[in-house]
Amino acid sequence: MCGIVGYVGPKSTVDVLLGGLKRLEYRGYDSAGVSVINTLGTLETRKKAGKLSILVDDIYKTPLGEAHIGIGHTRWATHGAPTDGNAHPHLGGNTQKLSLIHNGIIENFSELKSELLEAGVSFASETDTEVAAHLIAREYDKTNDLIESFRTVVRRLHGAFTILVMHEDEPGVVLAARRNAPLVIGLGEGENFLGSDVAAFVEHTKRAISVGQDEIVILRKDAVEIENFAGHKIEREEFLIDWDASAASKGGWSSFMAKEIADQPQSVADTLMSRVSSDGTVHLEELAPLTSLLPKIDRIIMVACGTAAYAAEVGKYAIESWARIPVSVELSHEFRYRDPILTPNTLVVAVSQSGETMDTLMATRYAKEAGATVLSICNTQGATLAREADAVLYTHAGPEVAVASTKAFTSQIVSMYLLALHIAGIRNTRSLNELQDTGKNLLKLPAQIADVLSNTQGIRSLAKAYKDAETVLFLGRNVGFPIALEGALKLKELAYIHSEGFAAGELKHGPIALIEAGQPVIVIVPSPNDPDSLHAKVISNIEEIRSRGAKVIAIAEEGDQRVAQHAEEVFFIPKVQQMLAPVLSVIPLQIFAMELSSAKGLDVDQPRNLAKSVTVE
Ligand code: AGP
Repeated sequence: MCGIVGYVGPKSTVDVLLGGLKRLEYRGYDSAGVSVINTLGTLETRKKAGKLSILVDDIYKTPLGEAHIGIGHTRWATHGAPTDGNAHPHLGGNTQKLSLIHNGIIENFSELKSELLEAGVSFASETDTEVAAHLIAREYDKTNDLIESFRTVVRRLHGAFTILVMHEDEPGVVLAARRNAPLVIGLGEGENFLGSDVAAFVEHTKRAISVGQDEIVILRKDAVEIENFAGHKIEREEFLIDWDASAASKGGWSSFMAKEIADQPQSVADTLMSRVSSDGTVHLEELAPLTSLLPKIDRIIMVACGTAAYAAEVGKYAIESWARIPVSVELSHEFRYRDPILTPNTLVVAVSQSGETMDTLMATRYAKEAGATVLSICNTQGATLAREADAVLYTHAGPEVAVASTKAFTSQIVSMYLLALHIAGIRNTRSLNELQDTGKNLLKLPAQIADVLSNTQGIRSLAKAYKDAETVLFLGRNVGFPIALEGALKLKELAYIHSEGFAAGELKHGPIALIEAGQPVIVIVPSPNDPDSLHAKVISNIEEIRSRGAKVIAIAEEGDQRVAQHAEEVFFIPKVQQMLAPVLSVIPLQIFAMELSSAKGLDVDQPRNLAKSVTVE
């Protein structure tokens, strides 16, 4: 859950590190720090509790020396409060010549710490990380071989870690190791980079290598070597990053979230690009590794967390309806602890924006070990999930920096529509015409999203009016239900308001007791033309709560004349095939949460207690 960056090369290292940390700050933002070895050969470290800007100001006032090698870290605290002392880097040994940063949790740190305390080592922090710094420094004092000392120590660590190390006596090399935490190498000309993800260095190079599990990287300005923990050399293929560096900057928007919401016409178009032809036919070449399996799968299990799990819930409706395969959606962290039934004909679909969510990675590994095939729906190139899955469907939403997921969500949903149509085509569960019509409807989504985004003044004003609300409820039915859950999650994480999403039909089974005079309830209303008369049922549900004092805010389809008589406020979305409506109806909810957060003076991009990717279990 922390961001790490490393650099060796001719550029101003402090600038490269701080620029990389800025792009990784979404991963953790309760403290930050850097170490460099300056051109005089001295290790210099600066670290500060609080947002990265505090460290930047400090370095601006008292600059670090010119340097061509360094490491940087932005922290989401696990062991030890967010203080200057607990911020990374941590120094090792009596001479304090070794500097180390870490993302993850060293699970056996207490036992290692006792060993070091008995040997008379004193600690400057309460972190699990510092033990690694002292252990490597102690080994190096014995062997004078930094790489061997590093190997020896990483083999002793349990848990999840990406660790970067530098030593003043070895000023040309950064060492890195990864187990259960992400690490990517950026390859430059006469310079090389390390990062938790490609965003750390995409402004400097588009060439990258994804580091595998239990691997060590030896990074110099003109050479990169990869080996396993036993020291055997490993070759890994490089890939080209297709993210534009400017896509990871705010570009004039008030927040990353505002930009990412506005990106959605483009990000959804990018998800569809080259996958749906103008006649509506879907082609998913990436699924070639699943060619022999797809005709015979008898079950799909989707594993995901948070917003990605709600996207998976929408996917369940589409796959079951179009491809007629039973689908269950499981929270990744629950999945593997309940002894699920997996067979060689089970397809597990792991959905993750970052591709580094530890719970989802562990669920995926469990599924593979049990003999299932795994498809990942992932947004981040080179991510661990993408590498470990049998096939990958990239969402191509571009970098998502704000902690609250928005454009990744809509692109995940669209990816699942594509998957559903692809499987339905293979299994002939729907006529070609029907599938192509839906394919053509998908192609209309970017323009329809733009339409929703062009008319948001009303929802923005409403958000301001509700800034003091204590509870907001969200209701939906069918594909509107996961959108109600997502709307509630957005409001919790951004505005710290208690909010719950319910299936509208469930209300009378208990939650209706929550309704009292003035209670705001946002209702996702299905199309009045839906074949199952859900519209009428939701209107009845609305009346049940209105008669108990609720204030109803409806998200409804353009031209729905009836709904206005049943709600205090109505926001319209364009007419769209009912299954595709979530991609449009979620947008007012994203804006509502963002505006309410701003109205309360909160940090929209970096809400309290959260990090963008949760790389610990
Ligand atoms: C969304 O707004 C959240 N911050 C969070 O629920 C997120 O979707 C979840 O942690 C999963 O992340 P992933 O998609 O990177 O796996």
